[in-house]
Amino acid sequence: MAISIKNPAEQDAMRLAGRLTADVLDMIGPCVQPGVSTDELDRICHDFIVNVQHAIPAPLNYRGFPKSICTSVNHVVCHGIPGDRILKAGDIVNVDITVIKDGFHGDSSRMFFVGKPTVQGERVVRASHDALWKGIAQARPGNRLGDIGHAIQTFVEAQDLSVVREYCGHGIGRVFHEDPQVLHYGNPGTGVELRPGQTFTIEPMVNAGKRHVRLLSDGWTVVTRDHSLSAQWEHTILITDSGCEVLTLGASERT
Ligand code: MF3
Ligand code: CO
Ligand code: CO
Repeated sequence: MAISIKNPAEQDAMRLAGRLTADVLDMIGPCVQPGVSTDELDRICHDFIVNVQHAIPAPLNYRGFPKSICTSVNHVVCHGIPGDRILKAGDIVNVDITVIKDGFHGDSSRMFFVGKPTVQGERVVRASHDALWKGIAQARPGNRLGDIGHAIQTFVEAQDLSVVREYCGHGIGRVFHEDPQVLHYGNPGTGVELRPGQTFTIEPMVNAGKRHVRLLSDGWTVVTRDHSLSAQWEHTILITDSGCEVLTLGASERT
């Protein structure tokens, strides 16, 4: 499938979907507290997306996924299914939100600390956050996807942490997961060339231990093989003439 270039109207639609996605994360952040279940977070987000935003939670029924958001706790790498798990102080949790508005997708995730963070938790959360921004800093016309992957990989591995290879960022638009695949490792000057109008996600998963992962028997939940902590942050971006626009910034990050 060819990589789509969004025209100005489509770019505006992506801006709206991105802003709504960020609004959900802004809304749910204060709810991530000791004693809350991941099912409650799912229900609150679902109701907000459907009843307040008049939008669609893209994960629900996506390839059989049973919930409206992903919640990935501690050694869960990604695609955690909300359930009766109760969050406790010291947990780290990724909340991954994908919203469809007027036919276009916005996709973003953030890490949240439950109560007071542990030293290891803080370390892996900060590394994955900063790795995402190292990647974003490479996102401009003329650069290639390999420049993004390389920046992320070298930054993470220099800290003796590892980058998950089985899952990647992706083109996004009318389709949730479009071409291209956006790897979080690679070589500079290789891969697809970036062009204005491309929209894709960057979403590095960083493990405190080794990079290897395992898929649980529910068919969705991905965990670290060595049970080390894992963290992930995700933004949807638009390549512009001069660089990129991050479409899923939180309200406090927007100017
Ligand atoms: N939001 C995830 C991503 O960043 C995809 C989740 S698919 C689901 O690409 F089915 F698990 F929701
Ligand atoms: Co994504
Ligand atoms: Co996502």
